[in-house]
Amino acid sequence: MRKKITIIGAGNVGATAAHWAASRGLGDVVLLDVVEGIPQGKALDLLQAGPVDEFSNLVTGSNDYKDSAGSDVVIITAGLARKPGMSRDDLLAKNVAIVKSCAEQGAKHSPDCVMIVVTNPIDAMVYTAFKVSGFPRQRVIGMAGVLDSARYRTFLAMELGIAPRDVNAMVMGIHGDNMIPLVRLANVSGIPVNELIHEDRLAEIVKRTQQGGIEIVNHLKTGSAFYTPGLAAVEMAEAVLKDSKRLLPCAAYLEGEFGFSGCFLGVPVVLGASGVERIVEFTLTGEEREAMRISEEAVRGQMAATGL
Ligand code: NAI
Ligand code: 2OP
Repeated sequence: MRKKITIIGAGNVGATAAHWAASRGLGDVVLLDVVEGIPQGKALDLLQAGPVDEFSNLVTGSNDYKDSAGSDVVIITAGLARKPGMSRDDLLAKNVAIVKSCAEQGAKHSPDCVMIVVTNPIDAMVYTAFKVSGFPRQRVIGMAGVLDSARYRTFLAMELGIAPRDVNAMVMGIHGDNMIPLVRLANVSGIPVNELIHEDRLAEIVKRTQQGGIEIVNHLKTGSAFYTPGLAAVEMAEAVLKDSKRLLPCAAYLEGEFGFSGCFLGVPVVLGASGVERIVEFTLTGEEREAMRISEEAVRGQMAATGL
């Protein structure tokens, strides 16, 4: 039987995720939004790409959660996006109410799904979805690390003039200015980047990665990034739908891993059919551990602000 993916929020990220999911032939896609007509129009437009892009899955637009019933994966992108001058935290109060309703309805109609949350501020929104859905921690995952790591890999590849796919690098911690692009473990086909790039330049690349979101907001002025965010969510969904055991950096609920408990933080996880199948721990240096502690502190502040 074909897999089913519901994407809640048919805005920039949601519609782009639908595009990537359909194009990769992951399953039938339901695009859902509160605005009447937008998900229907975008879904129909995307469906008509099938003959050209050679996919045969259905793409449906809806304003009714009944159409999402029995989804294997539900991706939540509903909410406001950042505008210039706005931090991810400014979005919190408005988006917590939206994500609550999406997670509640998504869980009610797809009780066995894996939920991937994209809405910002992500570490608090994924916590909101976790609390409201009542799902086990394995089935509620936040998307940020795949995006932030893709940005980091892109900047390293640009610096070296090497194909981005040969750059392995990971960003951990919060999705915010204090995110942690790991330099020690970044490598190009196994060669450590700190042997290839001067430390001053590496520090600039780390900084640009940490500000990767706002760099795009400042260009766009009317919203935030969506091509790579949409793809990053679909990359995670694909790992779940195909049970492919990908090791990807995701916001996962920690219960003692890396020494933290009771909060979501970006860590390497193995993604498979049941969601987060394993959190892969490794020894952090003192500096990395301190950076994770700073992330944790910021995430806990956001969690408190959700009122949950
Ligand atoms: P957008 O404004 O283009 O789309 C948001 C959509 O959500 C709109 O179509 C709106 O009608 C819909 N919506 C609002 N309330 C809803 C509800 N209760 N139920 C269903 N749909 C509802 O925004 P965009 O660019 O798609 O961004 C969406 C969210 O994703 C933002 O919060 C943004 O900050 C976040 N984001 C997170 C990233 C991450 O790394 N975690 C990366 C990029 C964006
Ligand atoms: C990003 O990093 C806005 O969080 C979003 O692009």
